Amino acid sequence: MKKQRVIGMFDSGVGGLTVMKEILERLLDVRIVYFGDTARVPYGNRSREELIRFGEEIVTFLIGQGAEVIVVACNTSSATALPVLREHFDIPMIGMVEPGARLAVEKTIAGRIGLIATETTVRSKAYSSGVSRALTKGSLPEDLVLRKAWQQGEQVISLVSAQSCPLFVPLIEAGLANSAEARGIAQTYLAPMKAAGVDALILGCTHYPFIEPVLQEILGEDVLIIDPALAVVKELENLLQHMEEWERSGLVVVPSNPLLGKNHWRARYFVSGDPGLFRQVGNTLLQEPIDLVEQVILGES
Ligand code: DGL
Repeated sequence: MKKQRVIGMFDSGVGGLTVMKEILERLLDVRIVYFGDTARVPYGNRSREELIRFGEEIVTFLIGQGAEVIVVACNTSSATALPVLREHFDIPMIGMVEPGARLAVEKTIAGRIGLIATETTVRSKAYSSGVSRALTKGSLPEDLVLRKAWQQGEQVISLVSAQSCPLFVPLIEAGLANSAEARGIAQTYLAPMKAAGVDALILGCTHYPFIEPVLQEILGEDVLIIDPALAVVKELENLLQHMEEWERSGLVVVPSNPLLGKNHWRARYFVSGDPGLFRQVGNTLLQEPIDLVEQVILGES
C-alpha cells in the first residue's frame, strides 16, 4: 500500500473544489485539507502584494494542519504569488498555470488557444508565458499535422485571445452557476473567443468548471475546453511518486505525520467566511458530501 499523504489546498472560495474533486477521484491514497478564503473572495482583482500575504498566511495554516504538499488551487494566486511562496516555504508546491498551459499545448489542434480568467491572471500574462515556456521545454501538440508544422519552425501555436470574466466568481460563490444571468454574461464574455476562432479554451480560474456545460453550449462542440485540474492531478501523482522514491532511497527522511494516526478522515474543510454557504455550494459539486466546515480567521482582509 502506498504511503498516505496530506495535501493542503487553497483557493479564494469554492473554486478549488473543482481541482479537489479530480484529485479525490483519481488519487485514492491522499487526504486533503482544504482552505477557502471566503471572507476575502474574490481574489481576481487583488494586488500581487495582497495575494502573497494571503498565500503566506494560508500556507502556514495548512502546514500546521499536517500538509506535506501544497496545491495552489487558484489561478490568480498561482499567476502572481506562487514564485514567492516557493521561496518562502520549504514544501513542494504545485500551481495551476504551468500544468494548464502544457495541457493546452498538447490538446490544441489548430494552435489557437484562448483563455478566460480573472483580471489579475489575465493582466499577469502568466498563461501566455506558460504556453511559450511549455513549447520551449518540449511539450508538443498531439495533433500530428500541427506538431509537424511546429517542428518545421512555423509559429503556429500561441495564446490568441484572453478575456477576464469578473462577474463569474461572485455568481458561482452565490450558487448561481446555472442561472439565466450566468448564461447571458457568458455569451458576452465568450464573444471575443469566437471572433478569434480559438479551438482550445483554457478555464484559467478554478471556479469556471462550475459553469462548464453553459460555456460548452455557447462555444459549440468544436471548441475543446481545457481544465488545468486534469494536468494538476498528473503532476501531483508524479510528485508523490518521486517523494516516495526519495524516501525509499534515504535521500530525505520524513517523520510520520501525526495527524494521519487519528481517525479516518478523507477531507477536511476550513473557510474564513460563512461555513454554511460554502457547504451548500460545495455539495452541489462534490460526490463526497461536505458535512463539517470549520471557520478560521487569518490576518486582515
Ligand atoms: N478561483 C480563483 C482562480 O482560479 C480565484 C477567483 C477569484 O476569487 O476571483 O483564479
